[in-house]
Amino acid sequence: MDFKKELAELLYELLDQEISVAELEQMIEKPKNALHGDLAFPCFTLAKVKRKAPQLIAQDLSEKIQSFTFEKVEVVGAYINIFLNKKLVSEKLVNEVITKQGHFADLDFGNGGNVTIDMSSPNIAKPFSMGHLRSTVIGNALALISEKCGYKPIKINHLGDWGTQFGKLITAYKLWGEAEKVKQNPIKELLALYIKFHEEAESEPALEDQGRGWFKKLEDGDEEALHLWQWFRDESLKEFSRIYELMNVQFDSYAGEAFYNDKMDRVVELLEEKLLLIESDQAMVVELTEENLPPCLIKKSDGATLYATRDLAAALYRKENYDFVQSLYVVGHEQSLHFKQLIAVLGKMGYDWAEKMVHVPFGMMLKDGKKMSTRKGKVVLLEEVLTESIEMARHNIEEKNPTLINKDEVAKQVGVGAVIFHDLKNNRMNDIEFSLEEMLRFEGETGPYVQYTYARACSILRKANWHANLQSPTYTNYWDKEWKVAGLLMEFAPAIKRACENYDPSQVAKYIIDLAQAFNKYYAEVKILEESEEQEARLALVYSVMMVLKEGLRLLGISAPEEM
Ligand code: ARG
Repeated sequence: MDFKKELAELLYELLDQEISVAELEQMIEKPKNALHGDLAFPCFTLAKVKRKAPQLIAQDLSEKIQSFTFEKVEVVGAYINIFLNKKLVSEKLVNEVITKQGHFADLDFGNGGNVTIDMSSPNIAKPFSMGHLRSTVIGNALALISEKCGYKPIKINHLGDWGTQFGKLITAYKLWGEAEKVKQNPIKELLALYIKFHEEAESEPALEDQGRGWFKKLEDGDEEALHLWQWFRDESLKEFSRIYELMNVQFDSYAGEAFYNDKMDRVVELLEEKLLLIESDQAMVVELTEENLPPCLIKKSDGATLYATRDLAAALYRKENYDFVQSLYVVGHEQSLHFKQLIAVLGKMGYDWAEKMVHVPFGMMLKDGKKMSTRKGKVVLLEEVLTESIEMARHNIEEKNPTLINKDEVAKQVGVGAVIFHDLKNNRMNDIEFSLEEMLRFEGETGPYVQYTYARACSILRKANWHANLQSPTYTNYWDKEWKVAGLLMEFAPAIKRACENYDPSQVAKYIIDLAQAFNKYYAEVKILEESEEQEARLALVYSVMMVLKEGLRLLGISAPEEM
């Protein structure tokens, strides 16, 4: 149900099919002030086409606009303001939600095209950072949103599992490591070994040579080196999986950097063939002066390939295997230059699909205004953050609803949901101040607030023992009181579309906050549970809000407990 489109189609005919429906749709605005109607059409641009004063055009058109769905058409200056027939529109919306259920506001402009989403991508043997959390949460939401829009998302965890640091790590492990300790606490132990390596290397530079030596062995396929590397990788992944499980995030591929080891020669050959590779300071680079970028380093003097080379191989692989219509990289903004170079090199290689690659950057997570990754060697472990959030949620439940069954499950849904929502509610480029107290508040713009509103809607329906007629809902009787809430239902699809087109899940987060707020206000004003002529219709509206909140939360990767 798209009233903008309906209006655009009407105008198209009234304007003698001179301006396309799509263009007209673009021109239609939504007045900020509800007193000016639900839709507004400015006639300024038409003045040129029609060679007539815009006010006259507005007047003329307004007299001809007639439709069931439009209750009142008003002219103010060069604007045509249109008021929807609230009763009819509410009715249509509610009944549509009830028939379509979770498929309400499904869109199809993705046309089944594959979208690869490079997301999460933590580094092996290093702690899972806040940046990786943001990438996981944003990437997962973008996958769900693009799926809702008709795309086929492919979630790829481009693990940082290769590079010279593994030579250093093996060296450190061989010198000071203990298998038992690593098994018990892999990330902490491996990180400690890595840090120790750097400390010791300051006074004993020979260690660096050893590190390089071990990495060389690793690259040459030495059995012991490979075995240790595999072990570090497995142990790290085990830890990361616990976090993914908590957050309910799954991947379609774990092809990380190492996966491209045997695909690097081809990249180098292709670059040579296309005469793009030049020598500079004994290294091989692609010049990007025309693109106004620093050269992209492809191969070091010792022959070792680099991060960028792996990403070139990965891009080619993804195009060949998934034939993507879009390829997203959800990675912090500090890597912007890297992705500009990557896309530029592929463009130079003649691949027009390079234009379909999008770096989706995001800001930092701050604590007390400072970057929150590692604090003086002391690491903020993400898992601890999540467990703490779950603990606090549990505490809240214990206070507010001590008799709740499955408290553990609900605490997990609320605790994790709070962290995710806090991340997604702002434009992703903003830095976020990390505060558990803030995230877990039940009032204000928080995950628990939306979940709580959802649970409240469920409880109203339970109390009324009301079940929707799913086959042929014909709920009518909507008036002004319902409009604020019912009218918002029609904003769901546009919010999803904006989120998808701008790679910005906050559009959906803001929308469900608006809906939750409008609903709570309505609930405070109208006695839904009291018997009345309108009760059926009202309960149907509660049901619709319940469905849309649940679906909105789902699109952000957040579960909705029916009771909390
Ligand atoms: N592992 C990298 C890091 O932690 C992120 C990888 C992002 N993805 C990519 N294709 N480069 O910085």
